[in-house]
Amino acid sequence: DWTMPHFITQAVQAIRAQVGTDDVILGLSGGVDSSVAAVLIHKAIGSQLTCVFVDHGLLRYREAEEVMATFGQHLGLKVIHVDARETFMGHLAGVTDPEQKRKIIGREFVEVFQREAGCLPQAKWLAQGTIYPDVIESAGSKNGKAQNIKSHHNVGGLPETLHLKLLEPLRDLFKDEVRALGVELGLPSEMVHRHPFPGPGMGVRVLGEVSPHFVDLLQRADAIFIEELRSSGWYDQVSQAFVVFLPVRSVGVMGDGRTYEHVVALRAVVTSDFMTAHWAELPYDLLGKVSNRIINEVRGINRVVYDVSGKPPATIEWE
Ligand code: XMP
Repeated sequence: DWTMPHFITQAVQAIRAQVGTDDVILGLSGGVDSSVAAVLIHKAIGSQLTCVFVDHGLLRYREAEEVMATFGQHLGLKVIHVDARETFMGHLAGVTDPEQKRKIIGREFVEVFQREAGCLPQAKWLAQGTIYPDVIESAGSKNGKAQNIKSHHNVGGLPETLHLKLLEPLRDLFKDEVRALGVELGLPSEMVHRHPFPGPGMGVRVLGEVSPHFVDLLQRADAIFIEELRSSGWYDQVSQAFVVFLPVRSVGVMGDGRTYEHVVALRAVVTSDFMTAHWAELPYDLLGKVSNRIINEVRGINRVVYDVSGKPPATIEWE
């Protein structure tokens, strides 16, 4: 019968049998699935695994440092940190259309990853954190069943262009099993229970044109919201929460002066499948505290609003 230690033993044996003495590369995003896959494969084959972490500059506040500290220093994985922030920002300059932004980010990601993989010619395998629901979903879309309203950014297409064999040790697992596995393998529980984060990241949360300055303001506002959700115990009671940067200015007062600064929206939803969602009924005192902190601590933002739209008709993300 199925137990976690038993699964780990079997998976480790299966990975060793599959790859032998070959080298493996894995795109580490900082998300739950790729993180758990990385740690599991590392347990099986150690230094035969090289992770490639692409920092596109659209991650959460201090996320790149956290990923490198957790996987590199703490867990001892071989992680190549690719600082591609300028490349991504350069390609996004002047682009305002959400789908266009997604395409550029997805394309650049593949490009950067491919270049790094080219530097590891001895790698024969590409590892991915594909989980059972992904397997079902892509089977569904082949039958035309799954409706893809937004083009979801992942690394689909990579194995073909790289001529690598696919290693997907989480293919049979559901999300909650992946989380339990991650904890069992020593990942911090906080990381394993993180809300989902879209591949294009802050690129679709700065509405319209993305600039490094707007991303910086958004990251800092978002970190405050998440910190307050955690300390109030609300983080685990919502399915996803984040801040959206609105590229408009509104008037405010500060001391004797008038300000004319940007607006952010807080978004928090409760959902079981992300196909429909309710806005989270966060307490007013929590919303008030988050608003005060953002306005006081993030110079450049003078107004905070709360999104009270359900899905449908709104989507969870704003772009
Ligand atoms: P929407 O906004 O469509 O989001 O209601 C549903 C879920 O999908 C995530 N999402 C994405 N994930 N790439 C991703 O990897 C994307 O381009 C993307 N767009 C939306 C969103 O965060 C939510 O969890």
